[in-house]
Amino acid sequence: MRTPPRLLPLVEDGVIDEVLGQVRSGKEADVFIVRLGDEIRCAKVYKDSSHRSFKQAAAYQEGRRVQNSRSSRALSKRTAFGQKEAESNWITAEVQALKALNTAGVRVPEPFGFFDGVLVMELIVDAAGEVAPRLDDVELSPEIARSYHQEMVRQIVLMLCAGIVHGDLSEFNVLVDARGPVVIDLPQAVNAAGNNNAQAMLARDVDNMARYFGRFDPAILEFEYAKEIWALYQNGLLHPHVELTGVFQDATGIIDVGGVMEAIADARREHEEILSRRAPVQLAGGAELAPKKWEPRVDPPHQGGRDRADRKPAGHDREHRRDSTFPDRSDVRAAAPAPAPVEPAPKIQWGRRPYR
Ligand SMILES: Nc1ncnc2c1ncn2[C@@H]1O[C@H](COP(=O)(O)OP(=O)(O)OP(=O)(O)O)[C@@H](O)[C@H]1O
Ligand SMILES: [Mg+2]
Repeated sequence: MRTPPRLLPLVEDGVIDEVLGQVRSGKEADVFIVRLGDEIRCAKVYKDSSHRSFKQAAAYQEGRRVQNSRSSRALSKRTAFGQKEAESNWITAEVQALKALNTAGVRVPEPFGFFDGVLVMELIVDAAGEVAPRLDDVELSPEIARSYHQEMVRQIVLMLCAGIVHGDLSEFNVLVDARGPVVIDLPQAVNAAGNNNAQAMLARDVDNMARYFGRFDPAILEFEYAKEIWALYQNGLLHPHVELTGVFQDATGIIDVGGVMEAIADARREHEEILSRRAPVQLAGGAELAPKKWEPRVDPPHQGGRDRADRKPAGHDREHRRDSTFPDRSDVRAAAPAPAPVEPAPKIQWGRRPYR
């Protein structure tokens, strides 16, 4: 096959010897079968970003580490440099995810390197040595469907244990080799701890798998693995050998926010009722004083910068009250007998008994 222009630099640099053919053209990349010495590999050539929705990409980018603060600033703006950074982030994310997942024991193609925007990786083949089919291309018996479904749930757990959510898992992004399912296509993989959409994306991945395998055995649709896996992950209990049940019950300890809000509303209603039952206070002269409803205190706005000279002299308020509100009791004070002089208390010397 004639070498596609995007693969020429790799041939020139000796990364690959020749291009044998094209596997399939995806929405976002063209995948080629390539040879290096005796080894057959595959090369994924990414299409440019105009084939992707930048908006959609942004939901996936959240929580990804960027190289430096300049990149980070550029990403937040829609400049040409920002677009280029987002593009390069998108592509390198797949390489990083493949490396991390391969190390974590997830069934993904082994990555060999990333050269000039091309990912070179293991070519997944079937039992006959042909390029492996996608899940969507195979017909499954109910037993195989159940077994592959369990295997995919295990792969999702392994990915999450490595801190990654695939984010686009479907029958089109899983190949089937002689040993079973192999996960591919990870440029949108999200950082589970740093992305607010991670839980929803995990649920979508799990549901997509259940929906696909459920075609062959509808009982698979009953499982609730997504909630179970996420609850274990959030509580730090998820590990590669965890035993899952597929059943999820709201465990005690998981906060029921709706219940808490209801309890608060009940308490408020009760308080209002108690206040309304209180009898009004009868004042002299027949006036009634209704029980005072508690209101939060609202301080008047601070009068900053007031001149000292404007302030009232100390004791001004006290003087004012004595004049207008309180009766003058100086006559009562004058008639009272003078208090008896107080005997001084005996001196105690600490560390010694007092004399008797
Ligand atoms: N490592 C591999 N081994 C064998 N075939 C592969 C491999 N990687 C990709 N393919 C084939 O190439 C196709 C496109 O690859 P991939 O899904 O990674 O690209 P994409 O363009 O992002 O796809 P999509 O159309 O899902 O957006 C896959 O459906 C699969 O058939
Ligand atoms: Mg794909």
